[in-house]
Amino acid sequence: MSLEMNQIEKHQFDAVIIGGGGAGLRASLQLAQAGVKVAVLSKVFPTRSHTVAAQGGIAAALGNVAEDKWLWHMYDTIKGSDFLGDQDAIEFMCKNAAKAIIELEHFGMPFDRLASGKIFQRPFGGMTQNFGETPISRTCAVADRTGHAMLHTLYQRNIQANTQFFVEWFALDLIRDAEGDVLGVIALEIESGEIHILQAKTTLLATGGAGRIFQASTNAFINTGDGLGMAARAGLPLQDMEFWQFHPTGVLHAGVLITEGVRGEGGYLVNSEGERFMERYAPNAKDLASRDVISRASATEIKEGRGVGKNKDAVFLKLDHLGEELINKRLPGIREIAKTFANVDPIKDPIPVVPTAHYMMGGIPTNLDGQVVLDSEKPVNGLYAVGECACVSVHGANRLGSNSLLDLVVFGKAAGDKMVTEIAQNKAHKPLPTNVAEATLARIARLEKTNGENVTEVGAQMRKTMQTHCGVFRFPDLLATGVGEIDAIAERAKNIVVKDKSQVFNTARIEALELDNLVEVAVATMHAANNRTESRGAHAREDFGERDDTNWLKHSLFYKQNNRLDYKDVRLKPLTVESFEPKKRVY
Ligand code: FUM
Repeated sequence: MSLEMNQIEKHQFDAVIIGGGGAGLRASLQLAQAGVKVAVLSKVFPTRSHTVAAQGGIAAALGNVAEDKWLWHMYDTIKGSDFLGDQDAIEFMCKNAAKAIIELEHFGMPFDRLASGKIFQRPFGGMTQNFGETPISRTCAVADRTGHAMLHTLYQRNIQANTQFFVEWFALDLIRDAEGDVLGVIALEIESGEIHILQAKTTLLATGGAGRIFQASTNAFINTGDGLGMAARAGLPLQDMEFWQFHPTGVLHAGVLITEGVRGEGGYLVNSEGERFMERYAPNAKDLASRDVISRASATEIKEGRGVGKNKDAVFLKLDHLGEELINKRLPGIREIAKTFANVDPIKDPIPVVPTAHYMMGGIPTNLDGQVVLDSEKPVNGLYAVGECACVSVHGANRLGSNSLLDLVVFGKAAGDKMVTEIAQNKAHKPLPTNVAEATLARIARLEKTNGENVTEVGAQMRKTMQTHCGVFRFPDLLATGVGEIDAIAERAKNIVVKDKSQVFNTARIEALELDNLVEVAVATMHAANNRTESRGAHAREDFGERDDTNWLKHSLFYKQNNRLDYKDVRLKPLTVESFEPKKRVY
């Protein structure tokens, strides 16, 4: 595939959204309904985006089961974040949650119902009544297929609103001019291999997570950090990359998610002695403590020899006591997953589970309008980011389950609104820089060389390094050697080549280009983790076991150029209420 600049086809839009998951589709809907010319570019058919895999639900203080308040939700989210979350953003999200749910319901999302007819809500980890007093049912659900229902609802609404879709198109690089403004994206049509320029007054990154940097992950194969790779290559920082959530219940050896909704419905974890061990680690919340706490507890049980199974490398998730009727009604997908991937029927037998990489709390820094910001909080003209690829930051050092779907829709709408305003102010497209696609074409051309590194081998080495050196518990020697290893992998990745040029649909090329993005994420993660000498949320160091608010109440900012790390203060001041001062976090 050799290309000249003059062969590149150009398209113009008011707004280009990269990613067709929940965040992208919520934003595009806002734009399309405002009459804006909007395109959504997605490397998979939009309803195959990873939002479809979200199971347990979406949080909002509706109070349908017991009294609830958005302020309690805000407190829980700040505590869950281990006080690294920005309190203005968290207030904004929790305050807008109920409205977002009603809006989804009006879009046609088929929420489960209580006997009263109101939207069904279940308990989830870390969600409480009255500032930590008792667990509360705050998570609205569609059985255990909430993301599936949400994604299909948003897709259908977009079709109705005339959003234009570019399906199976892969975004390669952002276009940034000499003033630093973003003017669109360079993309590859996967089927034909043709390169195109999508010029836009506003560009939104909604590319989801990057869990595929780890060997064991609940993430789909498409979660390769494409937005983060593009941002890093465009000279933008990546924020809080040391914070990765390990979900306590991934199916052993398969990684497939078993929703926290199982524990919300009354399931619990046991070790090889049949002990409900969370009673020791979190006496009040038990199996509904936050995910970082539970994952560390499971890892400790396994490390101390109380694991289950042939290799004693898992714990059991027990739910048979919930009864067949409830399991079939509220957790039908889980029964199917357990049968398929663990060969057990959970109405009779427990499921072997392990902590599994699940969610990236860090991402591309943004403000409350979804605008990408530099370390000075100055917005980058024309560029937005929303959802898992963004860091606004509402999840801080540890996300609470069911806050991620909420993040998508609340900030997807906010970004869409702001983009409509920006588009109204910018009547004309700015001219594209000369040689706009030069670096991108060179990056693709290198894949065509005859000799070089093998994509599969380099990818496997990256995943092994991340799993071994940057897992649930982090050790100083492993982090230090991990930095050297991941930097060496990044060097090797510069020389990857596509061996089998005959491949149909360019899948080998896409895999190679995805590896470029994964490596950017992995390098940022390892460097940021090595540098943060404290334990906070999901970042648990063996040598610095305590949280250190004096020195580390700060967000990290990683820059690709020279692997530089910078820091900025957490925003402790909410919008309208009093701050929640950092205090010891117990469940
Ligand atoms: O456990 C779950 O259903 C996952 C939810 C989430 O990550 O928010």
